[in-house]
Amino acid sequence: MGEKCLHNPVLLEEVLHFLNPAPGKIIIDATVGGGGHAEEIVRRICPGGTLIGMDRDSESLRIAHERLKGFQTTVKLVNKNFKDIKETMLDLGTGEVDGILFDLGISSIQLEAKERGFSIKHDGPLDMRMDRNQRLTAKDLVNKLSETELSSLIKEFGEERFNKRIAWRIVTERKKRPIENTTELAGIVSRSMPCGKRRQKIHPATRTFQALRIRVNSELIAIEEALNAVPDLLKPGGRVCVISFHSLEDRIVKNVLKKFKSQGVFRILTKKPVTAGVAELSQNPRARSSKLRAAAKI
Ligand SMILES: C[S@@+](CC[C@H](N)C(=O)[O-])C[C@H]1O[C@@H](n2cnc3c(N)ncnc32)[C@H](O)[C@@H]1O
Repeated sequence: MGEKCLHNPVLLEEVLHFLNPAPGKIIIDATVGGGGHAEEIVRRICPGGTLIGMDRDSESLRIAHERLKGFQTTVKLVNKNFKDIKETMLDLGTGEVDGILFDLGISSIQLEAKERGFSIKHDGPLDMRMDRNQRLTAKDLVNKLSETELSSLIKEFGEERFNKRIAWRIVTERKKRPIENTTELAGIVSRSMPCGKRRQKIHPATRTFQALRIRVNSELIAIEEALNAVPDLLKPGGRVCVISFHSLEDRIVKNVLKKFKSQGVFRILTKKPVTAGVAELSQNPRARSSKLRAAAKI
């Protein structure tokens, strides 16, 4: 299977419905990843449209580039963090756009690359950087933060109630030797859980991995900053769609959209977040926790 086949875009039909891409439109895909959503958007904005694809991961952009070449549409791919979306659009001289998509988190391409260290399933270095030019890695956090700092991190970004036990166990284990790999960490976290909690549907280290990933990539701050810039980037009537994968992300999305609604800037298009239907869930397990919220600029 080729790299680009590894990531199935989630809630694709729903995104296309709310984003409403049509010939000539200008759309930003702020998380272009492997270009799954982008490819379908590009098909619909042909001819004469423009797609600006952003990603902080240069390897994903390379895959998107291969996938999106050859369409009769302008495609600009930029290796940027979406927290700088406003400055990036100013630099590109794009002007106001018709739609912006955020499909948050990481892609299956990143998750399945064991050397990236995102996955509990594969043994790899404790890395978790979306932008590999960044210095801070998960290994730094796991081996350098104090027990109290680790405990708060796992609680805040992992919403993990066994945070104290996990932090204690990590600090105890790393005194013997540094914790280097995903499998080592997953084992340590599992062993720190009460016996009855070690066999669950989701791996017992899922929340700890989530917490580390969020902190390594400063994910939540970036989402808030980017969403706050959206009204300045959209044309009147322009649409924003955001897909989130856990409650910390969704809370930020919900609150920012609500704030702009109360200021008379946005009309909310999704009274409740849209979730995946049975057909999609049976084909794409990643869609399980996805939630789509959409709004239009007034
Ligand atoms: C869920 S994937 C997107 C998949 C894409 N929609 C597709 O169908 O192929 C999320 C992508 O967003 C990127 N990303 C996450 N946070 C980012 C940020 N703050 N700035 C830029 N890109 C980011 C990740 O590197 C990843 O490639």
